[in-house]
Amino acid sequence: MTAPLLTLAAVGATYPHDDGAVDALADVSFDLAEGERIAVIGESGSGKSTLALAIAGLLPSTAVSVGRIGWRRPMVGGRDIGFVFQDPGASLDPVMNIGDQVAEVRVRHCGEGLRAARRAAIDLLDRVRLPQPSRLARAYPHELSGGQRQRAALAMAIAAGPRLLIADEATSALDTVVQAEIVALIGELVRAASMALVFVTHDIALASQISDRIVVLYAGRMVEAGPAARVVGAPRHPYTQALIAGHLDLSRAPAFPLPAIAGAPPDPFDPPRGCRFAPRCSHAFSACLDEPAWSGGIGDGVRCVGFPLGGEP
Ligand SMILES: Nc1ncnc2c1ncn2[C@@H]1O[C@H](COP(=O)(O)OP(=O)(O)OP(=O)(O)O)[C@@H](O)[C@H]1O
Ligand SMILES: [Mg+2]
Repeated sequence: MTAPLLTLAAVGATYPHDDGAVDALADVSFDLAEGERIAVIGESGSGKSTLALAIAGLLPSTAVSVGRIGWRRPMVGGRDIGFVFQDPGASLDPVMNIGDQVAEVRVRHCGEGLRAARRAAIDLLDRVRLPQPSRLARAYPHELSGGQRQRAALAMAIAAGPRLLIADEATSALDTVVQAEIVALIGELVRAASMALVFVTHDIALASQISDRIVVLYAGRMVEAGPAARVVGAPRHPYTQALIAGHLDLSRAPAFPLPAIAGAPPDPFDPPRGCRFAPRCSHAFSACLDEPAWSGGIGDGVRCVGFPLGGEP
């Protein structure tokens, strides 16, 4: 068997604050094969962006990270790893036209001259289905719609032919129709180039649509992971079950926002002892006061004491 493209072993991160540290992520372990598509799902504050940034080596310098992130071969950010942020403003320069921004990636990472890079940029704008790409190449970000800006950011992210694309809620600011189009486009692009994908979303319908594997985060802990069809069809963690039971209706695709599950996610400065979901879990019992161990295999299992004891929690 070939080695995975990426191996995460007990990855975590904390953010120091004046009044204590936020333990934003801990003990995340999974492998990502070449061309594999993983969706990372969880509520706001669950650590999704922290995980995406950690993989890309883009965590802020204030963050304290632990664990090991191993690659099959050396990877260069921007060339081998493309990143699309939720806000295209984070990728796009407001004072440079779109074509030159894409061309710049080709010059920097592919050793192309400006003329060839500009031609390649127009081709890339076409590949992300921007209309009239040679005209649009001369436009500035403020002249584009939100969806068009995200397509341009996507063109930049894939310009150097990365082996891994990370999209951190790249479509959540867009309306449902545009969101569905861009998710479909991301799916096509990664499939055509056998690119691996880490797709961050708070929407389990989108996650199951685009990914081979789903990783569920709750309050900085990986509570469940597995093949997308298994996680959606037979969720094991009470949190995943609650997400899916109430709100995932694939017949009404494309997308539904993550519901409010009864109760609120924990205070990041003062999380509950043991299982962080226990205060909202109808199955919780005394054993949940201890930090639950991961049961199952790497990238396919659950962090819940109820599951191994009683089968279905
Ligand atoms: N740069 C930072 N400095 C301090 N704390 C941070 C920083 N970034 C994130 N955090 C904290 O870490 C925790 C996880 O945040 P993160 O942004 O990873 O969550 P998320 O799942 O991406 O949320 P969202 O869906 O809102 O984007 C939160 O409690 C957040 O407040
Ligand atoms: Mg985020």
